[in-house]
Order: sequence, then C-alpha cells, then structure tokens
Amino acid sequence: MRSALLNVMVQAARKAARRLQRDFGEVENLQVSLKGPADFVSNADRQAEDTLREELARARPGYGFLLEERGEIKGTDPNHRWIIDPLDGTTNFLHGIPHFAISVGLQRDDTIVAGLIYNPISDEMFTAERGRGAFLNDRRLRVAARRELAQAVVACGIPHNGRGDHGLFREELARVQAKAAGIRRLGAAALDLAYVAAGRYDGYWERGLKAWDIAAGLLIVREAGGTVGDIDGRADVLATGNILAANERIYAELGKELKAAGRG
Ligand code: IPD
Ligand code: CA
Ligand code: CA
Repeated sequence: MRSALLNVMVQAARKAARRLQRDFGEVENLQVSLKGPADFVSNADRQAEDTLREELARARPGYGFLLEERGEIKGTDPNHRWIIDPLDGTTNFLHGIPHFAISVGLQRDDTIVAGLIYNPISDEMFTAERGRGAFLNDRRLRVAARRELAQAVVACGIPHNGRGDHGLFREELARVQAKAAGIRRLGAAALDLAYVAAGRYDGYWERGLKAWDIAAGLLIVREAGGTVGDIDGRADVLATGNILAANERIYAELGKELKAAGRG
C-alpha cells in the first residue's frame, strides 16, 4: 500500500509520462529531418514539467518548486518544495535511445523525504519515502551485497564538450578501470542512482550534477540500504552535485580510488 503522498507523486508522473511516451515515438520519425528533433524535444521537456507542476500544486497547494526548466517557484509553505527533472536523459531521448526518466523529489526543510524516478519506456517506477524503504513498482529494493571492487559494475557520467573537468575524469576512470569488473555510462543520472538502489550497479560516481538530477535518487539509494555522499567528502551532495553512491563497502573502496585520482 502506497502512502497518500506517494500516490500523488505517482499519479503526476504517470500523467506526464503518457505525453513523453507519445513524444518519444514522434522523435524517432524526426531523426531524418535536417533540423533534427531538438526544438520538439525541448518542448516535450517543458510540457512534462508543466504537467508535473500542475498536478503536484493541485494536490499540495503551497509547496514550492525547484524546476530544471523554469527554475525556483516559491510556495506559501516555506518548509516544502518539489525538486523536479521532467526529463533526465535528454540526449538519449533526442537520439531515440529508450533510457530516460522523470525524477521528482520532495524536500522538507533540508531533507529529502520522498523520491520518485519513472522510466516510462520500461515502465519501471522507483519510489522511496524516508524511513519506509525503497521500491521498484511493488518490490522492495536492496543495494547489491558485493564487497569487492573487483566484482563490481560501476556507472559514471562522462563530461562532454564544454562541461566539467575532462582531465580529472580521465584520471578517475583510469583508477576505477584498473580495479572494477565493468564500467557503464547510460546517460541518465536519476536512473544511474535507481540502478544502484536496485543492485544492478554496485556503485556510481559523477561530478557536476544539479539538485534535480539527484534529489529523488539519493533518497532511493539510502532507503535501499546504500550510502550516498559527496566524492570529496564535503557535507552537502545536493549542493555540490559531485555524487558517489554504492553499498557501504564499495563506497569506501571507490571513494579511495576517486580521491587518489584527484591528487594526481
Ligand atoms: C543529464 C543526465 C546525464 C548527466 C548530465 C545531466 P539531462 O541530465 O543526467 O546522465 O551526465 O550531467 O545533466 O540534461 O538529461 O536532464
Ligand atoms: Ca538531468
Ligand atoms: Ca532534464
């Protein structure tokens, strides 16, 4: 049985997802046009965000918003705000790759208390509420039990043109590459975190993310028994956006490699 709060979030996500799904079908047809589907996709993105905002505002009037597309919208309730990425994995969506998600987190004061990540193509709904565990559809989630980096599949984010520190990433990659069983980069941070919670990945790191990429995912990983923090050990990963997530053992080992990379 889902709580009333999660029901509200699930319904809003399903509504926004129906539209995204239709638009994704259309994107495949637009690949061959000279201009490509870029404008169409940013429109789909904004529409999904509007749907989420309208649905959530109706169910919880007064809550504020931090939206990827439209920024901060202050609510009359100073303690609550939704942190939303209506389409995480835009580049995948744009290229017709069926790996993207809606991400919705609810922040109470400084704490994320509920999170939802929904991939409309695979129909996988990852949810969590603080203190109540994490779920994939109706199944309880648990991070993987692997204890050695040598057995671990680790996901990452690769900074692309104009973003991030490419040299540092290559150093980090070289360190992890030498130790891990496999490395993945599927291109949707929210799903990377959801996959850690589901025990598919043993760990994940990425730098330069925004609050809407990780708000829901960090709670889902923690509620699945995993550890989430800032790569460099700073206090607030939601603010730094340099995220490391794994089970406790892999977290320590992976963290050690990444820190060593930073020191050159
Ligand atoms: C991006 C994805 C990607 C990550 C980028 C994010 P967007 O979000 O999560 O995996 O590497 O840094 O910006 O732009 O698709 O919402
Ligand atoms: Ca994103
Ligand atoms: Ca996005």
